[in-house]
Amino acid sequence: MKVYFLGGGNMTSAIVAGMTKHGGYEIEVIDRNQDKRHYLSSCYQVRTSDKLTELAATDILILAVKPQDMQQATAGIRLNGALVLSIAAGLTINTLSQFLGNHQRIIRIMPNTPCQIGLGISGIFAPSGISAADKAVAENIMRTTGEVIWLEDENSINRIAGISGSGPAYVFYFLNALQHAAIQQGFNPEEAYRLTLGTFKGAVNLAEQSGLEFSQLQKNVTSKGGTTFAATSVFDQHHLTQVIIDGVTASVVRAEEMQQQLTP
Ligand SMILES: NC(=O)c1ccc[n+]([C@@H]2O[C@H](COP(=O)([O-])OP(=O)(O)OC[C@H]3O[C@@H](n4cnc5c(N)ncnc54)[C@H](OP(=O)(O)O)[C@@H]3O)[C@@H](O)[C@H]2O)c1
Repeated sequence: MKVYFLGGGNMTSAIVAGMTKHGGYEIEVIDRNQDKRHYLSSCYQVRTSDKLTELAATDILILAVKPQDMQQATAGIRLNGALVLSIAAGLTINTLSQFLGNHQRIIRIMPNTPCQIGLGISGIFAPSGISAADKAVAENIMRTTGEVIWLEDENSINRIAGISGSGPAYVFYFLNALQHAAIQQGFNPEEAYRLTLGTFKGAVNLAEQSGLEFSQLQKNVTSKGGTTFAATSVFDQHHLTQVIIDGVTASVVRAEEMQQQLTP
């Protein structure tokens, strides 16, 4: 199966890493930047080139340039009916279809950066006309980088961008805050780093292995009047849950605004 990537940046590297580890794909990455081409061909032994002119109907094209570069990057490509998978934020199927000469065989994907290490989670949306075989192709490619969630409607791409797309940054934000707190308690930065990361790893793995609700896990370590309770009471006084909900809402609203700006 021949898979072309248009754009050889961060996200392409992450997906190519998963696909090459899995095997079974013939990959070619198109990027205008020679350093990126060199990096991808030496790291993953994939073919690279600086221009894409024509595809066959059996090929797959993954659109992975920045949204604002997409129209120019796709201009003049003869698709010949190939399956197109777009990971670009803010470009709807309709907009992509316009850029691609009314092409209809398009699926949208919203990956996230842990795809780099095979622990990503990607939302996928396919319009009603897309075949089960094409959906399976998209799902199988993204499964090489982690988990996959199918989305019922296209707007959910913006909603999932606010959760799992931006989510790794929220986790890094909390990690950074906890590390600062540890330093303030007198631990050196290295100890603070290990304490923070170890706590996260342990808690995430415990949550996964126990299968319990997060709220129940929190209750299990929070006895009324105890030390954990003292901390979570301060979080509650500052309405931390609502702050996080508001942050996610702002991210989704921004994704919708950007989509409007990118719609011709
Ligand atoms: N990063 C994330 O967490 C994330 C998550 C979900 C979705 N996405 C989506 O993934 C897409 C790629 O993001 P990224 O972070 O991987 O971007 P990136 O690192 O900037 O990679 C894009 C690459 O495409 C190249 N390019 C641009 N126009 C081109 C053209 N006309 N022909 C050939 N190559 C061209 C760029 O070259 P230059 O360096 O010369 O510009 C760059 O090397 C975006 O649409 C983004 O919305 C990203």
